[in-house]
Amino acid sequence: MAYVTETTITDIVLERWMAVPDPRLRQIMQSMITHLHAFVREIEPTEEEWMTAIEWLTRTGKQSHDKRQEFILASDVVGVSMLVDCINHRLSGEATPTTVTGPFHVHDSPELVDGADIAKGAPGEPCYIVGSVRGLGGAPIAGATLDIWQADGEGLYDAQRGGDGAWMRGIFKSDDDGRFVVQTVLPVPYSIPMDGSVGDLMRHTEISPMRPSHIHFLIEAQGHRRVITHLFKKSCRYIETDVVYGVKAPLITEFKLMPAGSTTPTGKLAERPFWLLEYDFVLQPGENASAATPASAAA
Ligand SMILES: [Fe+2]
Repeated sequence: MAYVTETTITDIVLERWMAVPDPRLRQIMQSMITHLHAFVREIEPTEEEWMTAIEWLTRTGKQSHDKRQEFILASDVVGVSMLVDCINHRLSGEATPTTVTGPFHVHDSPELVDGADIAKGAPGEPCYIVGSVRGLGGAPIAGATLDIWQADGEGLYDAQRGGDGAWMRGIFKSDDDGRFVVQTVLPVPYSIPMDGSVGDLMRHTEISPMRPSHIHFLIEAQGHRRVITHLFKKSCRYIETDVVYGVKAPLITEFKLMPAGSTTPTGKLAERPFWLLEYDFVLQPGENASAATPASAAA
């Protein structure tokens, strides 16, 4: 065996790490060591810089627990969460694309009737979502489940409010024509949490920590692939600079401001102006993945 020098060490380590019986784990470790050594050779860190990195990773781990995941947030801000999502959801070009789930999806949202109001007094400007769920050829999908969640008009999610009961979330079903109506409030942009190790790192950059205005959807229908996605407000000032890279062109939507006196999608005369978002989701045939929902810490 060759003795260790700066030149030989990578090959020595790679050879040692061939002793991994699981072929997938062996592949992952071989690739990780190759890339990590190349990275270290490229940047040539000082020992102080290396220790700074270790301390940052240590803090990131200490700040991660069942209510917060700073490591996933780190993955989000360097685009790895979205890259993993893209790799795992290569859909037909016509199908509604996926994005990361984010940390605020709750599994026990209430089942609500068509047209129900998920805002229930939440701060914000009134908004309606009207649309349909369809297959690739455009045929309506009846009985699709739409699990919807978003921040209120002050940029806060249910979990951040900490109150009792569901806040700004609910589960709807598409009707016989594949259609649905949801009453809510206009989403607003918000910042990722900046009080942890990721925030410390972001403050060394000129990168915006903001997520553009969006609403989250998890849509399931029998015989179709599950879609976890967001719809984004086109006119939001942060639409080009989403800190977690979640914005895909087909998910950028117009929220139209309708004047007072208009008829709302639930058939009432609006006493004040309201926003209207219209969108048709397109699902690809296939089976729903039963694997755990991939997470993101920031969305
Ligand atoms: Fe979000």
